[in-house]
Amino acid sequence: MDDARRMDAQAWQGVDWVGLAHALPTPFYAYSAPALRARVARLQAAFSPRPTLIAYAVKANGNLGLLRLLAEAGLGADIVSAGELARARAAGIPGERIVFSGVGKTAEEMRQGLEAGVRRFNVESREELEVLDGVARAMGRIADVALRINPDIDAGTHGKISTGRAGNKFGIDLPEARRLFSERATWRALRIDGLHMHIGSQITDEVPLRRAAHSMVDFAREIRALGASVRSLDFGGGLGVPYREGQATVPVEHHAALIRGALAAFDPHFDGDCIIEPGRWLVAEAGVLVTRVLRVKRGADREFLILDAAMNDLMRPALYDAWHDIVPLVSGRPMASYDVVGPVCETGDTFATARDLPACRAGDLVAILGAGAYGASMASTYNSRPLVAEVLVDGPHHALLRRAQSIEALLAQDEGETVWAVSPRATVRRA
Ligand SMILES: Cc1ncc(COP(=O)(O)O)c(C=O)c1O
Repeated sequence: MDDARRMDAQAWQGVDWVGLAHALPTPFYAYSAPALRARVARLQAAFSPRPTLIAYAVKANGNLGLLRLLAEAGLGADIVSAGELARARAAGIPGERIVFSGVGKTAEEMRQGLEAGVRRFNVESREELEVLDGVARAMGRIADVALRINPDIDAGTHGKISTGRAGNKFGIDLPEARRLFSERATWRALRIDGLHMHIGSQITDEVPLRRAAHSMVDFAREIRALGASVRSLDFGGGLGVPYREGQATVPVEHHAALIRGALAAFDPHFDGDCIIEPGRWLVAEAGVLVTRVLRVKRGADREFLILDAAMNDLMRPALYDAWHDIVPLVSGRPMASYDVVGPVCETGDTFATARDLPACRAGDLVAILGAGAYGASMASTYNSRPLVAEVLVDGPHHALLRRAQSIEALLAQDEGETVWAVSPRATVRRA
């Protein structure tokens, strides 16, 4: 399939890119509403009829308009900070559909989570249990807890997004989880009756997903035999997407089937919560970063396509050497080979090297595909480049979801004057 048809297949039909790029300053992120709705429907169908809480991992893309669309379709949220909690609530997601993950929640974040009535805290250490117990006790609440286990399984993904190995900071090893379950009565404000796992992101092989799911339910069976009740099993996120034409991935229906298999192996009559936390799979392919060619520069041994988007707008290539398909929105041009780069002052500000593309000229529009997940949400203002606009599109219609940040707004965060004050002497506890 050529790239232009690949874009069509992603439900971009009828979008007038040139018109949009007149209405908005480039670069900007565009999300396809039909593609998002189709992903949600496919995911829901894959798990149906088993009631499953699909807790969308807000970190993948926390734009409020996008969250509202997912919330209206019935999704919940997996959050990892007070900011993500605020986003989920502002998008209309009720606390009972929110799970609170993260290895370093502060006491204040726990308090806010309890206040919002989150369904469950996914807890990653004994130390965290103690803090959560203290916070819940002070509020006169009981917190529902799942222990995130670390099954020591290699997800076969990039090292920086692999989270289920023994050496990773995430989760609790099985011997310690066993001890915590046996001591669960110690924490009187906690109801510890769930398990959680998440072994990494952009997983394209079914084997580690199945091994991890079975490792969790084997453990669930073991602790239940020891007298613990198991009311919730959270299989995390991690399902990969094909960033590159032809890249093999696990169909979501297979993922659902392996989770059903794990639940059946645990207890065919299990009527507790089944939770999943997909992020990337829901939104990655529903987003593109639209950028303009600033100039084509002839280097010593190659040509550089210099875009107005840079690593601060889309970090993934610089951070993980990630591949994104790149589609110049032009037609009838001969092919040429480019290193596709941004204007930031780092050699790492490179989207692709030696990429064969239709020949480009200054002013051409270029779409970087697969940019809906971990794109806008990871953006920074490095090189004092303001955050870009985000827009939802549906055929010829568009809705602005986030205005481009102005340079004035960027500067407004800094104090205009340097005013000295004596620092308070009291020690301030941060957690
Ligand atoms: C605990 C947890 N759940 C879910 C996710 C979402 O992962 P993905 O976007 O790969 O589905 C992440 C992402 O790292 C995570 O840390």
